[in-house]
Amino acid sequence: MKPNVIPHLHAINQVERTQANGHQAKVIWFVGLSGSGKSTLAGALETYLFGKGYKTYVLDGDNIRSGLNSDLDFSEEGRHENIRRISEVAKLLNDAGMIVLTAFISPFEAGRAQARTLIGTENFIEIFVECPIEICEKRDVKGLYAKARKGLIPDFTGISAPFEVPDHSDLIVKTHTSNLEDCLKQMVNYIEPILKLK
Ligand code: ADX
Repeated sequence: MKPNVIPHLHAINQVERTQANGHQAKVIWFVGLSGSGKSTLAGALETYLFGKGYKTYVLDGDNIRSGLNSDLDFSEEGRHENIRRISEVAKLLNDAGMIVLTAFISPFEAGRAQARTLIGTENFIEIFVECPIEICEKRDVKGLYAKARKGLIPDFTGISAPFEVPDHSDLIVKTHTSNLEDCLKQMVNYIEPILKLK
């Protein structure tokens, strides 16, 4: 906190907003390798929730890196700053009463822990989108694994940069063994009860 910056407490807070929305506000943080299916699952869950009247918003790696975080690279430092800024944005949207779905590789445990602490553990749900790298590489939706193997992309997660496998996610969804419909069911079964107002 800066010494001469004193936050103002506004009258309308998250409690009023969630009451008005009729559901809890949560941040659903998808973690996984490039090509594991984070954006697909986040999109499918948002479509389901939005269709049922929940207030939702998706923050997605490639989109945020084209705008807000276009100044950041894929060094360890760049990735930490990427996740830090996204955590702050997710926290604001969550405070605004939204269900925020984030789809970022988030390869470092320290970054994920920082996000959880900043957003508040009671507001934070981590979903590990598990898929072996060989399968992500075979899918190679964006052609990036092929480029990374040729040495054309430095610090590529899983090839030339680390991915620390999460070991205390709230939910694990395996996209190599479950199809999209089953993954969606698993997520909805876990998340919908949590969204009910107390
Ligand atoms: S994170 O590691 O900082 O969390 P983020 O989710 O924002 O990554 O961005 C990952 C996306 O950027 C990938 O899906 C891929 O399309 C693209 N990308 C470009 N360069 C790299 C790289 N070196 N490592 C991983 N992903 C990369």
